[in-house]
Amino acid sequence: MSLYEAVSITPNVYWVGVVDWELRDFHGYETRRGSTYNAYLIVGSQGGILIDGVKHGFEEQCLSRIRSIIDPAKIKVVISNHSEMDHSGTLPDMMQHFAPDAVLYASPMGVKALAAHFHWDREVKPLKTGDTLDVCGEHLTFVETRMLHWPDSMFTYYQKDKILFTNDAFGMHLAGEERFAKQYDRSVLFEEARKYYANILTPYSMQVGKLLKSYPSLGIDATTIAPDHGPIWQGEQELTDIFSWYERWSSNRVNSQIIIAYGTMWGSTRRMANAISEGIRHCGVRCLVFPLGCTHRSDIAALLLESSGLVLGSPTLNLEVLPEVAAAITYFKGLKFKPLVTGAFGSYGWAPKSIMSLEKSLDEMKCPALAPGIKVQYVPTEDDLEQCKMLGISLAKKLIELKENEQ
Ligand code: FEO
Repeated sequence: MSLYEAVSITPNVYWVGVVDWELRDFHGYETRRGSTYNAYLIVGSQGGILIDGVKHGFEEQCLSRIRSIIDPAKIKVVISNHSEMDHSGTLPDMMQHFAPDAVLYASPMGVKALAAHFHWDREVKPLKTGDTLDVCGEHLTFVETRMLHWPDSMFTYYQKDKILFTNDAFGMHLAGEERFAKQYDRSVLFEEARKYYANILTPYSMQVGKLLKSYPSLGIDATTIAPDHGPIWQGEQELTDIFSWYERWSSNRVNSQIIIAYGTMWGSTRRMANAISEGIRHCGVRCLVFPLGCTHRSDIAALLLESSGLVLGSPTLNLEVLPEVAAAITYFKGLKFKPLVTGAFGSYGWAPKSIMSLEKSLDEMKCPALAPGIKVQYVPTEDDLEQCKMLGISLAKKLIELKENEQ
């Protein structure tokens, strides 16, 4: 008996991935619920097909799950849907256990990416959109999904069982015993799928939108969506949920809510943040306030995905913004969030450099501040806080106006 066991998805398709209960950081994205690296085994009449590998260090667990179904030496085909190391890192080692003539396939960009990762002399065969493979007695089709979220990303479709293997797309970082979405609380699925989309896919929303639009013409009638992270979407309600969430997130439909994200040294910038939030709420607009010293930027990103405003605050420290503010800004900038209304504020001692820096960052994000940033020397007076409240009121009013014009 194998130490680790495969989980059946259909009579001849199995989950052979791993659960990473320990993962808490995925290149800057806090993964409080851990993750899974999903690999899939199709047992064909003439051999095994492996879809994707797992993260380096987990190869024994993946091989053990494969062994619970077939001898790994019977695997004749490996499909790499995505070359990022959490899915390819084990392939060089694992392929030594497969049939000596096992063939590795990837998208044309995947062929290049795998070569640049492993500097090997192994031949990797390219698959383009519309290509089909008849291997191991099974029939597979392929769709390149460039920039979802890497140039090499690709979907593999197994028509016989109507399973679409989507690599990172439709995934989430969620460790758990259960393999299927229907076994989880829907609010947990929503929260983690949204956080994953916000932190991984936001810069590529245009490509997501195009994919969803073209999906009905791709000849795919999947009833199971099998991503490389988190649970497998199987069933009408589950597929409707994830597709409708992606449709919403990719179309930049945002709620009337403004996020204030700030750092503080001695409480002055915090008091300013609270006064601005009072102004926003005064106009009936929802305001979420996040001190960056104790809120992870990836949690804010998840909410920024559905928000229409961002106000950044930082005191000046050594002529710069606070480190936690700088990190969050770099992160939000990279994710290409463009809130409709923005503002900046902060306290300073003798040189109000942080506010200038915040305004410059908002310019670089292509969402310039609605009004000049509010600068307060050392500690705010009642008048200063009133001015902050007025900034909140102007931001909320502008947002209300923009939303009314949208209708
Ligand atoms: Fe799960 Fe883009 O790697």
